[in-house]
Amino acid sequence: MNILLTGGAGFIGSHTAVELIQEGHTVVVVDNLVNASPESLKRVGVITGTEPRLYTVDLRDRDGLEQVFAENRFDCVIHFAGLKAVGESVAKPLEYYDNNLTGTLVLLDVMRAHGCKNLIFSSSATVYGSPAEIPITEHCPKGAPTNPYGWTKSMIEQILTDVQFADKEWNVVLLRYFNPIGAHKSGLIGENPNGIPNNLMPYITQVAVGKLPQLSVYGNDYDTPDGTGVRDYIHVVDLAKGHVKALDAIGRRCGLAVYNLGTGVGYSVLDVVNTFSQVNQVEIPYVIKGRRAGDLATCYSDPTKAGEELGWHAELGLAEMCQDSWRWQKNNPNGFES
Ligand code: NAD
Ligand code: UD1
Repeated sequence: MNILLTGGAGFIGSHTAVELIQEGHTVVVVDNLVNASPESLKRVGVITGTEPRLYTVDLRDRDGLEQVFAENRFDCVIHFAGLKAVGESVAKPLEYYDNNLTGTLVLLDVMRAHGCKNLIFSSSATVYGSPAEIPITEHCPKGAPTNPYGWTKSMIEQILTDVQFADKEWNVVLLRYFNPIGAHKSGLIGENPNGIPNNLMPYITQVAVGKLPQLSVYGNDYDTPDGTGVRDYIHVVDLAKGHVKALDAIGRRCGLAVYNLGTGVGYSVLDVVNTFSQVNQVEIPYVIKGRRAGDLATCYSDPTKAGEELGWHAELGLAEMCQDSWRWQKNNPNGFES
């Protein structure tokens, strides 16, 4: 298939580009590079032998996007593009709603005008808010996200649901990611956060490489086995493969479909720290701090539906996630700039 990846130069998009190309699909990328480097796509080219074409276009630039659709015929769009920093979204809600919602509305309008009505969307477990059940199935009702970023995901899901309801020619797959970490085995592509990382794994790798002195563990008094927060970490390559499988659902004309992409296994912050230290033989100094506002004690998926309907299962464990994150960080201490 001919696939457009919005935000395809980013962390998850670049890994998905690799898997798609390796499965024989053609990939075109639209990215405004606000949180990515074109070097990521050059490296996709090194891994696969085919560098995806990049259009440096903001999704809100309708004329620019029209041009992309005028020059290509797409079978499906995988929509990764968006701003994703939770804390920044609290400080800059207008920028987040504008970028994520307006970008999606313009994209959908241009897709419709060009008769492309197949879309896979990067959603998040954050749409469950404080989940009514653990492990979380897709039957769990959506909840109230604790920040504007999360609300943009929830609102975009609603927009896509309404669009598909109104016009049954649309096929829409909502993929609710749990906590993506890890990197491609080659060590050539990986996560490249701006400034000091907010998320656990990039923080750990920056401590390991000596850029940050120590990790702060946010709370050890949760009702969890060791008191620290429990999450469903998923290797980004497994996540990327989930998108390839979701294309099959689009091919079967799935209508509206929702899938959790997680492993179904929860690990605590200290499980991650200890596994990272053990498999990579690097000490991670840490201090226990107070809880971080908006954090849940425990969040992990029930991924049964994706297994049954997409034939997708996460295959890589926490040890590989830690090894692959470290290989990427060690080989690229300054991300794509090094
Ligand atoms: P990322 O920041 O690496 O990738 C997003 C890409 O979108 C970037 O390359 C950025 O330059 C681009 N972009 C942003 N706004 C744009 C716009 N208006 N026009 C064109 N391009 C634009 O993030 P990621 O981790 O790869 O996440 C991809 C998607 O998955 C995002 O929608 C994110 O919210 C979602 N998601 C990520 C996680 C996670 O933990 N990484 C978890 C759940 C959901
Ligand atoms: C966060 C976001 C979520 C988003 C996801 C991916 C919140 C409340 N949730 O998920 O919406 O989709 O990132 O971008 O921000 N931790 C530490 N020290 C650190 C960093 C994290 O102890 O320096 C702990 C956290 O308290 C948590 C776990 O590590 O228990 C995972 O945190 P993180 O990687 O930020 O992901 P989430 O909070 O699950």
